[in-house]
Amino acid sequence: MHTETLTQTYPVTTGTLREITLRINGEERRLSVLPYVSLLDALREYLDLTGTKKGCDHGQCGACTVLCDGKRIISCLTLAVMKEGAEITTIEGIDHPIQQAFIDHDAFQCGYCTPGQICSAVGMLQEGKAKSRDEVKDQMSGNLCRCGANQQIIDAIMDVKGGENE
Ligand code: FES
Ligand code: FES
Repeated sequence: MHTETLTQTYPVTTGTLREITLRINGEERRLSVLPYVSLLDALREYLDLTGTKKGCDHGQCGACTVLCDGKRIISCLTLAVMKEGAEITTIEGIDHPIQQAFIDHDAFQCGYCTPGQICSAVGMLQEGKAKSRDEVKDQMSGNLCRCGANQQIIDAIMDVKGGENE
């Protein structure tokens, strides 16, 4: 079992450290964190899981999307201490056909949004709500791609869904 402690990444470092346990990609990790540390920073700065990206840090771009107990969440707006005992899956723990589909459809350029897009797509496919291409677009609208690969991203998802591409 690992215990990681880091406080120097924040300008304010006062407060009472909290001991928490998260399950990350099937592995139990103990953390000693200040109560205002986001799950995103816990992943990147404490656990060296840098696949999850920080874009806006304000819940607006989706780059930080991870799965929590199988549901997609915005990790920049989630406090690490809120997820005590939760099962977190990051891009490092994803093994899904959508990854090959992204390659086949050239669904990225710089790749910065890609981990969040893939985690969000996996979560959306598990939700099973989106049936049509338009519904997929709507359900993926929280994940922005500044490179403009949106069409290819939707193509990749529709490919995995077995749906018709426009
Ligand atoms: S970094 Fe979390 S939504 Fe942009
Ligand atoms: S591939 Fe560059 S932001 Fe999406």
